[in-house]
Amino acid sequence: MSDTQTNQTWGGRFTESTDAFVAAFTASVEFDRRMYRQDIEGSMAHARMLARVGVLSREDCEAIVRGLEEIRAEIERGEFEWSLALEDVHMNIEARLIERIGDAGKRLHTGRSRNDQVATDIRLYLRDAIDAIQTELRRLLGGLAELATRETDTIMPGFTHLQVAQPVTFGHHLLAWFEMLKRDYERLVDCRKRVNVMPLGAAALAGTSYPLDRHYTAQLLDFAAPCANSLDAVSDRDFAIELTAAAAILMTHLSRMAEELVLWSSAQFDFIDLPDRFCTGSSIMPQKKNPDVPELVRGKVGRVNGHLIALLTLMKSQPLAYNKDNQEDKEPLFDTVDTVLGCLRAFADMVPALRPKRDNMRRAARQGFATATDLADYLVRKGVPFRDAHEVVGKAVRLGVETNRDLADMTLAELQRFSPLVEDDVFAVLSLEGSVAARDVLGGTAPNRVREAAAQARTWLAELA
Ligand code: ARG
Repeated sequence: MSDTQTNQTWGGRFTESTDAFVAAFTASVEFDRRMYRQDIEGSMAHARMLARVGVLSREDCEAIVRGLEEIRAEIERGEFEWSLALEDVHMNIEARLIERIGDAGKRLHTGRSRNDQVATDIRLYLRDAIDAIQTELRRLLGGLAELATRETDTIMPGFTHLQVAQPVTFGHHLLAWFEMLKRDYERLVDCRKRVNVMPLGAAALAGTSYPLDRHYTAQLLDFAAPCANSLDAVSDRDFAIELTAAAAILMTHLSRMAEELVLWSSAQFDFIDLPDRFCTGSSIMPQKKNPDVPELVRGKVGRVNGHLIALLTLMKSQPLAYNKDNQEDKEPLFDTVDTVLGCLRAFADMVPALRPKRDNMRRAARQGFATATDLADYLVRKGVPFRDAHEVVGKAVRLGVETNRDLADMTLAELQRFSPLVEDDVFAVLSLEGSVAARDVLGGTAPNRVREAAAQARTWLAELA
């Protein structure tokens, strides 16, 4: 990055050049150059619109478009000389355009300000980012739906308070994750609608005196519409806050999944095996296989939550219209996008490859009296009020704790000591299969319901594409 030039773009009214530290302090090119493609795309559309309404000649427009194409190629070849003195991506590209094509380049900024330019660039950038995030999210959702379909009959303990509660199927658990992420997907769809509105034409803050056709520019850039109010268009970053909020919720969901993957891959749970390629070893303990990928995903929620607070705080109390504060939106936003994309990619690769240890899951479901509620429900069906049944089963569980046996391991005579209503058919109820099959309610864990839910999940996904 060169820093020898002084900024000529707005130098007219200044009597001394910018302090070198201030120039570096206020510059954003080191991070906003990431939006070079969007900046160029926005400039091309603006130039074409200016030509269409007769503010710019056809020749100048063509020279601008060609010049910008060449600059884009220069950047992509790594040959572009970025200058800190030129402050940001916008002025770097504009200065290079002027260097290459002369006066035509100087006409590009007619009826435009960096304020509407940068707001447009961020929206274009975010639109692409949302599309990329959605692509990875669909991949992860697809993996979950597949795995759930394979595991509709796999029995595992369901937990509340991380204590064994009732048996559930592994497929049901996976589809709970699916639902969480599906809502995240829909939040992104919704957020994209508010991102996809175009600031160009707002100029610095008040609009412009040139007869711009904002609808045409919006159409060229595939925006749904131009922003309705110029002051709002250049100043608000609520769409960025919204994306980051959606990302923070998504990351929260990923952290919950991550936590369970970490627990499940421990020797104590031993419900799953994570493929070696997603784990790392220890430099000192030869036996270790650490679930680094889910751990790191769990940890990364911290930075996205931080970015959300940063953006909210950045926007808070800003008077209309544009303020330089807004330059601070980019780094949190970019890091949010990178983090979410990375985490989704890792999970989309890893989740379909995890190997369930079905016997261990089943064994764990046999511990902790997971079918105690089933016994109570059984007594209720025989006419016992639920509260009394609860009390009776509690006593049976106490015997189980004392003699280290599950309810299903007791004899009929033993169970009858707690209630004479217990008959031979109780053992079907106390079985894990009987327990899950009984939860045959919409949204419940019965394998036939889970099969139905998995099919619906796959249909929902297929209809997105
Ligand atoms: N680099 C600035 C930003 O990121 C571009 C807009 C600057 N506009 C201005 N009038 N200083 O917000």
